[in-house]
Amino acid sequence: MYVDPLPQMPKIYGFAVEGGSLPSPVPLAIGMYLRTWKFHRDLPATPVFVYGTSSGNATFPGPTIIARHGVQLSVTWENYLPDKHILPFDLTVPTASPKLGGVPTVVHLHGGVHPPQSDGSAFAWFTAGFREVGPKWTQRTYKYPNVQPAGNLWYHDHALGLTRVNLLAGLLGAYIIEEPDIDYPLDLPAGDQYDLHLVIADRSFNIDGSIYMNSTGNNPSIHPQWQPEYFGEVITVNGKAWPFLAVQRRKYRFRILNASNARYFRLALSNGLPFYVVGSDSSYLSAPVKTQTVLLAPAEMADVVIDFSHATTTSAELVNDAAYPFPTGAPAAGALSGKVMKFDILPVGRTPSEDKSKVPPTCVTYAAANTTGSVVKTRYITMYEYVSAAGTPTHLYINGLRLEDPATETPKSGTTELWQVINLTNDNHPLHIHLGMFQAIQATELLNLAAFRSCMTAANDAVKCNVTAHAVGKVVTPPEHERTWKNVVKIEPGYMTSVVVAFKLVDTNQNYPFDATAEPGYVYHCHILDHEDNAMIRPLILV
Ligand code: C2O
Ligand code: CU
Repeated sequence: MYVDPLPQMPKIYGFAVEGGSLPSPVPLAIGMYLRTWKFHRDLPATPVFVYGTSSGNATFPGPTIIARHGVQLSVTWENYLPDKHILPFDLTVPTASPKLGGVPTVVHLHGGVHPPQSDGSAFAWFTAGFREVGPKWTQRTYKYPNVQPAGNLWYHDHALGLTRVNLLAGLLGAYIIEEPDIDYPLDLPAGDQYDLHLVIADRSFNIDGSIYMNSTGNNPSIHPQWQPEYFGEVITVNGKAWPFLAVQRRKYRFRILNASNARYFRLALSNGLPFYVVGSDSSYLSAPVKTQTVLLAPAEMADVVIDFSHATTTSAELVNDAAYPFPTGAPAAGALSGKVMKFDILPVGRTPSEDKSKVPPTCVTYAAANTTGSVVKTRYITMYEYVSAAGTPTHLYINGLRLEDPATETPKSGTTELWQVINLTNDNHPLHIHLGMFQAIQATELLNLAAFRSCMTAANDAVKCNVTAHAVGKVVTPPEHERTWKNVVKIEPGYMTSVVVAFKLVDTNQNYPFDATAEPGYVYHCHILDHEDNAMIRPLILV
């Protein structure tokens, strides 16, 4: 542990500013390559599938893309992967299956507000050289208008039934939307030294360095390979196992992404320093929130400032105590997944570089999430888990339906909806909705859960099963640092979580400047990737 320095991913800019003129777009081509990656000084190099502008500079995670608010970015995503996957997968879950072989891929800009043709539909996959494409493939070049507020996004694979293995192999990377008029006045720590990404991903490795993934399922007679959750005991940050970072006694901004398949992280600093959370995954908070812990579900992000000038120690470990599965499983193993990375703090007395950055008094205020006035439609969305006779999970569905079943969520573009998300399973699920930004308002405990669950299992109808008579228990509100527009919210087991979803721009309160109703539409799903693949995912079609 703590022998490899924390690297930063290379940055690629999707715009250029020349001599005081307005920023102009720079089209990008980003490939997917098989290469090897050193996760640790003492571990043999690991075969990975990774993004880069060429094979030689492809990295785990991929390059960080910097986009400018209002400047459309075009990316041609190119697949240079070999014929065979480096990880096992399972053809008994609905899976992209090219007749000519090859690894199907398709890229989704997670958190992006963009037209459906650029959303990376699970059915819009393509293999190397576009030799074969999925049934909903439309175009090689994706267009991201970047019309949404400044925020922290990421891009990753989304191929049907292969998302969990393609991300595990390394097909993920960070994406920032900058908006200088909004960002700069906040005076947050900035620049390549003080504004850093921490992309956290758990993995297990074989002794030869290759990524370990179970090749046998927990219910092999039903799904030969699929497991309900992938958990690795090695915690990697920016592609290094338990790295260290030397820091000065000053403020740093960390954009923390949990890019794990299924593991939750409850992060804290071992020397008691707090986090000042300034933003979520999609937007800023209205004001920084000081907190000792940050709980991140898979795909969730926190944008935080840590002020090391207040440290009374010369090092601090970033630690994790989240159970896995969350919240019912065993606690993170103290000596392994309980540790994430280490900060080596400049000794007291050694002067840091001058720090003019701030934890600002306020950040940014957007249109409020409102459960009355602006909401035009309430929907009930129910999460189910199905188990075999032996009691182990076989699959998970939303509303008892498959991805291939006709869309039932057909919001009107430009409106706001209230989604009452009912979790009948025993675990927390990170809900991710494409296109829309959303906020969890509160979660209400479901009483007489066993009776409600059996009614729902038979009838699959929250109204018939009288949800309002059950959703009368304890009311929990999200922590203050999650109260802004987000693209992932945690859905507690045994609760009904009220989520306000805006199908419009949350900073201007305007409808999208593109046709969001086009084919092939969007999806919403659980972001535990093993759940998403089997098959906690549903279409979302705007009208
Ligand atoms: Cu981060 Cu539909 O995905
Ligand atoms: Cu799930």
